[in-house]
Amino acid sequence: MANRSRFNWSRVAGIFSGAVLLLAGTVALAAQPAAAPTTGGPGPEVCKACHAARVEFYQASVHGQKGNLRGPANAGNCAVCHGDGTEHVKAGGGRGVGGIRNPGGKTMSPDDKNATCLACHAAGSKRTHWDGSTHQTRGTACTSCHTMHSPDKVLTKLTQPEVCFACHKQQRAEVNRTFRHPILEGKVVCSDCHNPHGSIGRALMKRDSVVDTCYQCHAEKRGPFVHNHGPVTEDCALCHNPHGTVADSMLKLRPPFLCHQCHTPHGGNVAQLKGQNQQLSKYGSLLSATSGGKSGINYTQGRGCANCHTQIHGSNNPASGIPLGNPTPQFFLR
Ligand code: HEC
Ligand code: HEC
Ligand code: HEC
Ligand code: HEC
Ligand code: HEC
Ligand code: HEC
Ligand code: HEC
Ligand code: HEC
Ligand code: HEC
Ligand code: HEC
Repeated sequence: MANRSRFNWSRVAGIFSGAVLLLAGTVALAAQPAAAPTTGGPGPEVCKACHAARVEFYQASVHGQKGNLRGPANAGNCAVCHGDGTEHVKAGGGRGVGGIRNPGGKTMSPDDKNATCLACHAAGSKRTHWDGSTHQTRGTACTSCHTMHSPDKVLTKLTQPEVCFACHKQQRAEVNRTFRHPILEGKVVCSDCHNPHGSIGRALMKRDSVVDTCYQCHAEKRGPFVHNHGPVTEDCALCHNPHGTVADSMLKLRPPFLCHQCHTPHGGNVAQLKGQNQQLSKYGSLLSATSGGKSGINYTQGRGCANCHTQIHGSNNPASGIPLGNPTPQFFLR
């Protein structure tokens, strides 16, 4: 492409971001502070003649304000992202004409696009793990999510999901299910749980692990409890799909099926159950759940495990001390 000279400043910017180590030989440039590479060329007023709307939006945006000392307005304006526009203007403009660059267009590689932005934004603590992150390695560019000349939808809670849904159809479907986080209402947002710029947690979790991410808002599930339930301390997503489900409480499966993935059904043949469900027969003798002609299966599978095991995330009650006392706290019954 005409606009991809062998030595362009986005490559230089790459040195600062660590993306293009091969060019580290360009010592003089690499030694400069990690400021934006400044190139000259006509400024906003010249461009305004043909790109009025874009220039006006830019000048009112965070990037266009002189007050941001490290921002483009103090570092070459349009040229910081689009390169020297002299030839473009001379030629009367046009797509790709005069070597004009477009970090939001189709002609630059994702790495070159990103270098444009990382020249100034690599230092942000949120992007420490950008290199090697799923989005970076899959060729997602900063400009796949961010816009510079129109309201940046990804920064606003209500509009962020539509940016993500453009590539994540499955999550769009999940977020529309009956049991879901209030994402469509803008009360919870994808970036409450994910850091799209990269993280050390799996699935781009905002915190180091899934549980830590959930504790931000569900602190009561953190424990430690007197009796912990193994999978709860390990990973909430073993049982929940936080985007949305057809089962109550965002459960991946309904009990008993959820529980049966890891537990053998105990039926009604549990000592306390027999005691708990005592009733008198018409002859006055004591019946238990199972001897009363009812299937123990109805008591357990049919009713749903969480009806009895109500403290499924962990129980804080000490043991009752009564032999075979019921319900027994270590089984998350109370
Ligand atoms: C004489 C009119 C004119 C001037 C002045 C002008 N442009 Fe353009 N520019 C165009 C036209 C026409 C296009 C084609 C796309 C379009 O219609 O928006 C274009 C396209 C672009 C593109 C998209 C390039 C691509 O390959 O996708 C960028 C970026 C751009 N101009 C930046 C600038 C900048 C920065 C300046 C000032 C330095 C500037 N233009 C000055 C007319 C002009
Ligand atoms: C010349 C340096 C520079 C370049 C190049 C640059 N930015 Fe920025 N950007 C800044 C500064 C300074 C701010 C305001 C302070 C901050 O948030 O760090 C900012 C703010 C932002 C914000 C927050 C906007 C808001 O409304 O809060 C986003 C998003 C952003 N930049 C994305 C980008 C993207 C994407 C690119 C590449 C296309 C880019 N920037 C290129 C310096 C730059
Ligand atoms: C997959 C979508 C996505 C990509 C790709 C992406 N961002 Fe973001 N960015 C977001 C979201 C969502 C937010 C708001 C939530 C947050 O602050 O984490 C954000 C916030 C920001 C902010 C403002 C908050 C801050 O960190 O100061 C800046 C600056 C920014 N991004 C720069 C970049 C740069 C530079 C790149 C490319 C290296 C990039 N982003 C790539 C989605 C993305
Ligand atoms: C911080 C980086 C940055 C700065 C500074 C910047 N732009 Fe852009 N420009 C972009 C990005 C990214 C896009 C892709 C669309 C978007 O994000 O809105 C773009 C798109 C454009 C387009 C449209 C290209 C198309 O696809 O049709 C024009 C024209 C343009 N810019 C002109 C300018 C002018 C003129 C200036 C200076 C007043 C300027 N830009 C300053 C990053 C920047
Ligand atoms: C331009 C396309 C694009 C956009 C926009 C986008 N992503 Fe992605 N995302 C991908 C690709 C490609 C993958 C790799 C896996 C795949 O193919 O689904 C991915 C993977 C992910 C993963 C899984 C990461 C892992 O390591 O398992 C998460 C989480 C994610 N994206 C969140 C988001 C969020 C949140 C947003 C919006 C702020 C977003 N994405 C916007 C393209 C995109
Ligand atoms: C309440 C927290 C939370 C919110 C909000 C959230 N996610 Fe997730 N997301 C997760 C967790 C946890 C996982 C890992 C799930 C698993 O592995 O079972 C995940 C996984 C993903 C994946 C990878 C799926 C896969 O199969 O590898 C993508 C893509 C994704 N989320 C996108 C999004 C998008 C887009 C949004 C906003 C519409 C969003 N998420 C909102 C918690 C959340
Ligand atoms: C940003 C805050 C936030 C984060 C982070 C968060 N949640 Fe939530 N969660 C909410 C809100 C708000 C509700 C809805 C409460 C309501 O409707 O009363 C909710 C509800 C729930 C519900 C109950 C749904 C129902 O149908 O009753 C479950 C289960 C849940 N979240 C699991 C998780 C898991 C698992 C994670 C971590 C992957 C997580 N949450 C992370 C805010 C959050
Ligand atoms: C072993 C499976 C399992 C794991 C793992 C799990 N949960 Fe749950 N969760 C459930 C069940 C079952 C329900 C429904 C309880 C009911 O119906 O009484 C539930 C309900 C919830 C609710 C809504 C009702 C309430 O208790 O507030 C929230 C919020 C919740 N879980 C958050 C979490 C968080 C956060 C984690 C990780 C720290 C987690 N869960 C891990 C099984 C699990
Ligand atoms: C991902 C696997 C997994 C799922 C799903 C799961 N559990 Fe567990 N559960 C465990 C593990 C592991 C233990 C600890 C076993 C141990 O210490 O012997 C445990 C312990 C228990 C205990 C205490 C038993 C004892 O011997 O201490 C009860 C009761 C229990 N789970 C009920 C449930 C119920 C009810 C569900 C469904 C809502 C459920 N579990 C879902 C893995 C799971
Ligand atoms: C009617 C109440 C009730 C229901 C419904 C119920 N349980 Fe239990 N469960 C108990 C009681 C009481 C104990 C304690 C037994 C003891 O103290 O020895 C127990 C013990 C357990 C234990 C530990 C002992 C063992 O047998 O491994 C597990 C695991 C368990 N239940 C899982 C489940 C699962 C899975 C379901 C749903 C299929 C379920 N429970 C439904 C009352 C119930």
